[in-house]
Amino acid sequence: MNVAAVVRALLDNAADGQRTAIGFPGAVDMDYSAVLPLFGRLFNNVGDPLSDPGGTAHTKVLERAVVDWCADLLALPADDRWGYVTAGGTEGNLAALHAAHRRHPDAVVYYSRAAHYSVGKILDIIGAPGELVDVDEGGEMDYRHLATLVGWRRHRPAIVVATAGTTMTEAVDDPARVDAVLREAGVDRRHVHVDAALAGIPLALDGVLTLAPGSGVDSIAVSGHKFFGTPIPCGLVLMRDSIRRPGRHVAYTATLDTTVSGSRCGQAAALLWCAIAAHGRDGHRARTARARDLAAYAVEQLTAIGWPAWRHPHAFTVVLATPPAAVTGKWLLATDGSWSHTICMPGVTRGQIDALVADLQTASRDGVPVPQQRRSSQTAAPQTVAPQPAGA
Ligand SMILES: Cc1ncc(COP(=O)(O)O)c(C=O)c1O
Repeated sequence: MNVAAVVRALLDNAADGQRTAIGFPGAVDMDYSAVLPLFGRLFNNVGDPLSDPGGTAHTKVLERAVVDWCADLLALPADDRWGYVTAGGTEGNLAALHAAHRRHPDAVVYYSRAAHYSVGKILDIIGAPGELVDVDEGGEMDYRHLATLVGWRRHRPAIVVATAGTTMTEAVDDPARVDAVLREAGVDRRHVHVDAALAGIPLALDGVLTLAPGSGVDSIAVSGHKFFGTPIPCGLVLMRDSIRRPGRHVAYTATLDTTVSGSRCGQAAALLWCAIAAHGRDGHRARTARARDLAAYAVEQLTAIGWPAWRHPHAFTVVLATPPAAVTGKWLLATDGSWSHTICMPGVTRGQIDALVADLQTASRDGVPVPQQRRSSQTAAPQTVAPQPAGA
């Protein structure tokens, strides 16, 4: 078997597909070549990030730097912070919700209809009861509905999952409003987790997402392969140290077992560290601004040809009326009923947006009617003026 030829074919295929892959949220502007030499051997960050395993083949020093950079950005107090590099957004949500469930074993978990599918799966794994909260037309949690649901169970502790960047519309739930609902209902035994897989870092750079004392947020999970565009899936979970799973010392790894996975990918921590070290806060702010500008441009261009489209002002995601199947298939536009989205992640170009718009124009010229604005079953509001962003 010619392994090199198989690898070449996979690479060519991926590069070909890249040109029209603007429906899924992975940045494509990052250069990770400096880290690639690490991929020649095993780097295993087994166990707690603060306890080093025997031997030297791990990258925990970089993992701790990543945790600290993100914790500083989110204003998580230096004397009460903990986190680790996960295999992705789902593991981050699992680690946080497991910790929350340990704190409040009889809690009800509230999460919105626009929350990521991993949340329902995690409730199944940890055996916690869940309540689905309605969303408004832009995909943000309906806080009045949350208040009603919490009110019915005010004697039970509450775990609330707020999303910062929902999968379909990149809506942002506001932890301050969640906090207000819980306070008004008199629910003291509570945990607020923010699933910030997509928008966590950009919103933290804006200063609107924080884990500072008083924010009401107890934990957060972000994705590494979305905004940072790492070439392998990964993520980060952060919480206050005082609420993490205590874990026990494992003799044969010489580490504390606090993480969901035992063995963990050392290269993932190195990639995230590379993203942070190479660009810093200012570099990532600039990447964010360029991507948002492109998303604004996409809405303008779509609107100019009469194609219904809108976005939240902070968002990379542009929601558009669902095009014909040939167009959604070609551009990999994620679709939910009458609404689809393209995501202008860092690295997506004007040329790609122009080509998508040209395809839509051709489709309308060929007699495919421009879709009327219709309400989706899940979320999106029919509007070209974007809803106001949540304060998150
Ligand atoms: C809001 C949200 N949460 C969680 C996830 C799960 O991430 P992963 O696929 O890395 O487990 C995603 C991924 O799309 C997401 O958009």
